Amino acid sequence: MENILVSGMRPTGKLHIGHIFGTLNNWVKYQNEYKCYFIIVDWHALTTSYEKTQEIKDNIIEVLIDYLAFGIDPSKSVIYLQSLVEEVAVLHLILSMITPISWLERVPSFKDQISQLGKEIATYGFLGYPVLMTADILAFNGKVVPVGQDQIPHLELAREIVRRFNSLYGETFVEPQPLLTETPYIPGFDGRKMSKSYNNAIFIDESEKETEEKVRKYITDPQKIYKNSPGRPEICNVFTLHRAFRNEELGDIEKDCRVGKLGCVECKKKLANLINSTLRPIREKRKEISKDRKKLIEIIEEGSRKAQREARKKLDEVNYKIGIGRGV
Ligand code: TRP
Repeated sequence: MENILVSGMRPTGKLHIGHIFGTLNNWVKYQNEYKCYFIIVDWHALTTSYEKTQEIKDNIIEVLIDYLAFGIDPSKSVIYLQSLVEEVAVLHLILSMITPISWLERVPSFKDQISQLGKEIATYGFLGYPVLMTADILAFNGKVVPVGQDQIPHLELAREIVRRFNSLYGETFVEPQPLLTETPYIPGFDGRKMSKSYNNAIFIDESEKETEEKVRKYITDPQKIYKNSPGRPEICNVFTLHRAFRNEELGDIEKDCRVGKLGCVECKKKLANLINSTLRPIREKRKEISKDRKKLIEIIEEGSRKAQREARKKLDEVNYKIGIGRGV
């Protein structure tokens, strides 16, 4: 059987260039190696943004446009909207019956997020966030889950749930494994990690002028005061981005910066040009794709129908194993 890969993204914001290296480029590659399910996880978005549903609604389509513009191909992979496959919610409910609360309270993101975002997010649904993620994966017999370091505890929990279920009701699920993705550090223009919530992101969907303006704001080596002061590329955010975008002149930029031949203004111009020329075909494709909203809805509905057929099969099996529902 070919290996099944499942991944998801919360539609809580527009995608930015940090997502290209951490997620989108990898997904495009995985399409040729695995049977892939790429989920727009709007229920997960509700856990932290239940008061900002307009934002979720707008971003579902925007995220889909980004996927397609980068080359996620609905004829190769299943791209679907979580809330259109209700079988997954039923599976989540069943899994919740066998998941001890103590396992969930132990997941680091539970306490971290509450201390960051406030007590309002400490809902029943939020506590169950990793159980829902487990259901996303198990509904399709997902074996491989590309994740960053922060999601590792979620997958550990998923495996514990699998073991518990299998020992209670018989072999039903496989233990999903993380596929640790190498994510280069992408700084935002204020020097912190690029993130929508820090307001420091260069978005895939923005104008070339906006990108230029943001690149101009980057803090470079603070010791490089004048154009001809020698700089230290290893501590420079702009250099980090030149490297992430695989600038062909990287060697020269490094050398010229160190000897004070290349000033930061010039170096930022080069970077803005590089980002804009890399994104140009994608931004154009984005515009093209956005025109046909009906087609976009069709793509997501078709993907969700495919996902639903698979999830239904798995849910029937689960009901049968337990002896409830269609399994009575
Ligand atoms: N928890 C993931 C995140 O916050 C999103 C997610 C939801 C997911 N369901 C998933 C990832 C299933 C992989 C597989 O980024």
